[in-house]
Amino acid sequence: MRQAGRYLPEYREIRKSTKSFLDLCYNPEKACEVTLQPIKRFGFDASIIFSDILVLPNIFGWDVRFEDNIGPILRPFRIEEDFRFLKELPDQNAQQVYYAINKVRSELPQDVSLIGFVGAPWTVASYMIEGKSSKDLFFSRRMIYSDPILFGKLIDFITEKSIFHLKNQIKAGADVVQIFDSFAGFLGEPEYSEYIIKPTKLIVSSLKKDFPNIPIIGFPKGSGLLYEKYAKETGIDVLSLDWSIDPSYAKGAFQGKVLQGNLDPATLASNKETIERKARYILEELSGRDLIFNLGHGVTPESSLENVEFLVNYVRNFNE
Ligand code: CP3
Repeated sequence: MRQAGRYLPEYREIRKSTKSFLDLCYNPEKACEVTLQPIKRFGFDASIIFSDILVLPNIFGWDVRFEDNIGPILRPFRIEEDFRFLKELPDQNAQQVYYAINKVRSELPQDVSLIGFVGAPWTVASYMIEGKSSKDLFFSRRMIYSDPILFGKLIDFITEKSIFHLKNQIKAGADVVQIFDSFAGFLGEPEYSEYIIKPTKLIVSSLKKDFPNIPIIGFPKGSGLLYEKYAKETGIDVLSLDWSIDPSYAKGAFQGKVLQGNLDPATLASNKETIERKARYILEELSGRDLIFNLGHGVTPESSLENVEFLVNYVRNFNE
């Protein structure tokens, strides 16, 4: 979960050498180097391509930039006419992402998996509609109710392009893909089924047709009670849990799924006793399940390198 980034001094160093965050994403040599940094430092079992969920709208023509200390700024998508800015075919930057994947795959050890990814249509649509990070996604939720036709058209567009982007990442060398639905927790039924489950299910079935052996990880952050429905209906292989899901509940739920998660990333900015206690609880409760030990969300810039290293050693040496 966002294992490269500002908590790593070697990342901050390369980041200084590029004008913007997106320039780094579209530079295959540098993107490859940044992708490999956490693997070299910590020896993780899997690597995730250095990119962003907002790269997809950007390569299809949408105006996206990242401002230091603010975050993403996008052209706000509000009306039907905004479709004129979106293109059917991606620009050349898309190719740079695929080159980066190809390069990473050729440099990674054989036994380290490479994860490709997209943001889920709902989460990407929300960023496009809000135009920036938002605490309540008001404009996105309002569009669902006031203009469901326009909202549905936007979701369909992103869904189709997500399938394209994931297939190309797989062709370029991704061994696994993950769908990040960071804002899944902002919808209830029936909107959750319509705009989260339905598009995710379409992405999964389209990928499975062409690439039946590529595992698909779903991360519907904040879904709470709707995690069950997501696990049952989308067809994903691996369910990534945020830290609000108690492992003692998860162990008896989500039958047939591999689980991923779910340590609170904030613990990495606390102390070793807490990290050990919380990690042990996850490992003990989920010992009977197929588990990819991970965080419940991305690594934060405040995490200490010593704590990350301590966690990796603890998990590696854990005996059931
Ligand atoms: O290991 C990795 O870093 C993998 C690459 C990766 C990034 N973003 C790099 C990144 C992945 C998988 C993402 C996903 C992503 N991006 C999500 C979904 C997961 C989640 O965290 O919920 C979301 C919502 C985004 C959107 C995004 N990107 C925001 C809101 C921000 C700004 C906030 C911040 O942390 O600065 C980003 C920037 C971003 N994406 C950074 C990185 C390493 C930090 C950029 C920098 O300061 O150099």
